[in-house]
Amino acid sequence: MAENWVYKKDEGTAVAQISLNDLITALTVALDLAGGSDRKHSLRTAYVATRLASIMPIPKLEVDNIYYAALLHDLIPAQSYFNQELIFDIIASLSLNSQVAGRVAELWKYKRNNQVKASLGQLSFSARIIYLAEYFENLYCNGEKDAYLVRRPINFWIRSAVAGVDNRIAEAFNDCVREEAFWQDLRENRINRAVRQVAPDWRQQLNVDDIEKMSRSFSLLIDRKNPYTGEHSQRVGAIAGHCARLYGLDTVMVRKISIAGYMHDLGKLSVPEAILNKPGSLSELEMQVIKAHPYNSYAVLSEVEGFADIARWAGNHHERMDGSGYPWGKRDLTILDQIIAVADIYEALTSNRPYRQALSADDALNLIKNQVIKGEIMADAYGLLEAAIVHGGGLKEQGYYGDKDWLRPVYSYTQAK
Ligand SMILES: [Fe+2]
Ligand SMILES: [Fe+2]
Ligand SMILES: [Fe+2]
Repeated sequence: MAENWVYKKDEGTAVAQISLNDLITALTVALDLAGGSDRKHSLRTAYVATRLASIMPIPKLEVDNIYYAALLHDLIPAQSYFNQELIFDIIASLSLNSQVAGRVAELWKYKRNNQVKASLGQLSFSARIIYLAEYFENLYCNGEKDAYLVRRPINFWIRSAVAGVDNRIAEAFNDCVREEAFWQDLRENRINRAVRQVAPDWRQQLNVDDIEKMSRSFSLLIDRKNPYTGEHSQRVGAIAGHCARLYGLDTVMVRKISIAGYMHDLGKLSVPEAILNKPGSLSELEMQVIKAHPYNSYAVLSEVEGFADIARWAGNHHERMDGSGYPWGKRDLTILDQIIAVADIYEALTSNRPYRQALSADDALNLIKNQVIKGEIMADAYGLLEAAIVHGGGLKEQGYYGDKDWLRPVYSYTQAK
């Protein structure tokens, strides 16, 4: 099951054969969903920007930076209340260098201030390439639906607009668009393979620390989308990891469960904020949108090779033992699925929501116990949750996560008792 994930006893470390590129591209698909698009906008932008950069006399390292910055250019919506430091923090946690963060921040700032139609000349050469690649992608997708018909207006755009901004980039565009293969690579069913071919070092592997760090920082993005769920995913990851440890799982499994906890609501990026933050009750249609989110978490995560378990646990967090859950209505759930589910329910109940105040730890546990009695939740998963919350389970002493601040929410739960 988990040969991609190995605990090296002699070194005391857990390693995973997960490709950095694989993980980042999957996450950008989630970002595109957040932008309301399932058209692989970020992937296509990265492909175009990298092709342009490779034609020009740009050092290989900078071409790689352009690739990653183009992939992540929509990491944070320009209208959002995020700040530049956050962009740097998140990108640093993705095992990418600060140049990549610099480019993304530059584009983010440019778009943010662009009400006055600032000149593209203000951007660095690399950022300009990414900006124009993104512009190209929008023309390609929003223009004529026919891939052949779209070529003429794009050629016109290159000759007029791009050439007016930067002749070198216009020439690189011309080199690309003359090639039939370039247009074929852009097609929906070919773009993934095409991106792999231009991506830097596709096989760069990650260790488990890196993956955990990446998923934690992504959980920050997921949580920030909804002011009422400030630290939800981060806490679910911490609580679920703790339950897994109490269950006696080995380090590798515990960390995989935590990662599934951090990412369980990844699919929520695709739910419009108006629905997420709606104070009143939801319409049937809105409910359907909400119910798609665990499926989207599953779909995005299962694209990462070596993430099959994590994708399943994350995707099953709203499933219930009696088949009343969603999105599949499964009944054959494992205790690992249910660990994420109880961590999720507990965290949600003990947080303030637009429609109700946070419950106390006792009240939340009692409500979940009722769900066990009704046959919705697995008794053993509840038992682990109760042990984790009420008794603390030696969480502090074990110092598993090392980073104490990170666990503060869980400490405060246990201390509130
Ligand atoms: Fe974009
Ligand atoms: Fe959820
Ligand atoms: Fe959740």
